[in-house]
Amino acid sequence: MLQACGVDFGTSNSTVGWHQPGQASQSALLTLEDDKYTLPSVVFFNADEDEVNFGRAALASYLAGYEGRLMRSMKSLLGTSLIDGQTEVQGRALPFRQLLASYIGELKSRAEKSSGQAFTQAVFGRPVHFIDDDRKADRVAEDTLKQIARSVGFTEVEFQYEPIAAAIDYESRIDKEELVLIADIGGGTSDFSLVRLSPERSQHTNRQSDILGNGGVHIGGTDFDKYLSLTQVMPLLGLGGILNNGTEVPSAHYFNLATWHTINLLYSQKVTRELQDIYRDTGNSDLRLRLERFLHLLEQRDGHWLAIKAEEAKIMLSDQDRISLHLDRLRSKTQTSVECILTLEQTDFQSSIAHLMEQIETAIRQVCISAEVTAREIDTVFFTGGSSGVRGLRQRISAMLPEAKKVEGDLFGSIGAGLGLDAYRRFS
Ligand SMILES: Nc1ncnc2c1ncn2[C@@H]1O[C@H](COP(=O)(O)OP(=O)(O)OP(=O)(O)O)[C@@H](O)[C@H]1O
Ligand SMILES: [Mg+2]
Repeated sequence: MLQACGVDFGTSNSTVGWHQPGQASQSALLTLEDDKYTLPSVVFFNADEDEVNFGRAALASYLAGYEGRLMRSMKSLLGTSLIDGQTEVQGRALPFRQLLASYIGELKSRAEKSSGQAFTQAVFGRPVHFIDDDRKADRVAEDTLKQIARSVGFTEVEFQYEPIAAAIDYESRIDKEELVLIADIGGGTSDFSLVRLSPERSQHTNRQSDILGNGGVHIGGTDFDKYLSLTQVMPLLGLGGILNNGTEVPSAHYFNLATWHTINLLYSQKVTRELQDIYRDTGNSDLRLRLERFLHLLEQRDGHWLAIKAEEAKIMLSDQDRISLHLDRLRSKTQTSVECILTLEQTDFQSSIAHLMEQIETAIRQVCISAEVTAREIDTVFFTGGSSGVRGLRQRISAMLPEAKKVEGDLFGSIGAGLGLDAYRRFS
């Protein structure tokens, strides 16, 4: 029996696709948490219950206030020096490699339980660039992921570009040839492929000549959260405030708080002491109030809660022009009953991520230029990845290719489904 599956280990969500015995060519996604086929890429080390939670359950335990450590955006560690580091969990050092292995091992065992069979061979998705403009770091990232996959029992591991996996999925549903720009805008990266697809071409084993270009940037939904937070939320905690000596409050801690995978770096006595020193040296009562909120947030370990709020705001702004964000846990010691309510406009969000959208547009332009394809020649734009829900970004990409047909894939499932089909073709 074929023991192959496709694994989409995502920055925010992961899926596993496979070829169901008896089915013709379509691949299916396995349910990984209750009846859901996505497992959010989240781990919570629950100290109160002395257990490890994954996915939605991990987020729920953290938000319910259990003591412990939440880890999200773990894929962003690949290719950086952080991957060789560790974090402290219940007084013990947990190497990040082990953290990734525990999550990927969990994905494997849930997929096996759901399919009723073992998986030893896998095609893993990978972004076109784990790291921008650094081939060596990019190779290290892929090698690290491979080692981790092997360590949890995948004896044969191959890789496929995530947008090509989405192309394989889309191709299984078309009946004539199309030149397609695949736009996979995820949590950590935005990846693009320009591909010639057709039912006939899908039968060929070597597809190199059908792939006209690949490209991408290390920008995704977690960066949109970060810049929305830095421009709109962090000032409530003191970012941009002026100290007695006329300089601004140092911004490094705010950057770490707004970045999913560095939030835990703030939970140290050293950081608290630094913030307390700044607080003591500040005469400005408004800034003191904001710094009190920051200190209270760290004491409560509410950093991920705040990031979740910024993400919620972003998602609400994908279909509303103006929203109110209730930041009920953002309180200061002196004003415990005052709740922060932030009103955000679509234009606030658009301007906070304008520089990121520009870089994404440039990446698309580069793919077209290197493939020597003009916008007019492209028949279809296929959108996938949760962040293609960002209205302004989608409009900008659509405007670059006004004549192309716009198709929306399964935003969270196309890559895993394509990888499952790819695994079937490669290993059978
Ligand atoms: N309606 C929406 N509008 C805007 N963004 C959304 C929406 N729904 C989800 N997102 C964002 O989509 C991102 C997750 O998308 P997805 O699951 O495709 O990423 P991923 O595959 O985990 O990441 P990557 O492929 O980059 O590693 C998150 O940043 C999430 O906030
Ligand atoms: Mg993805």
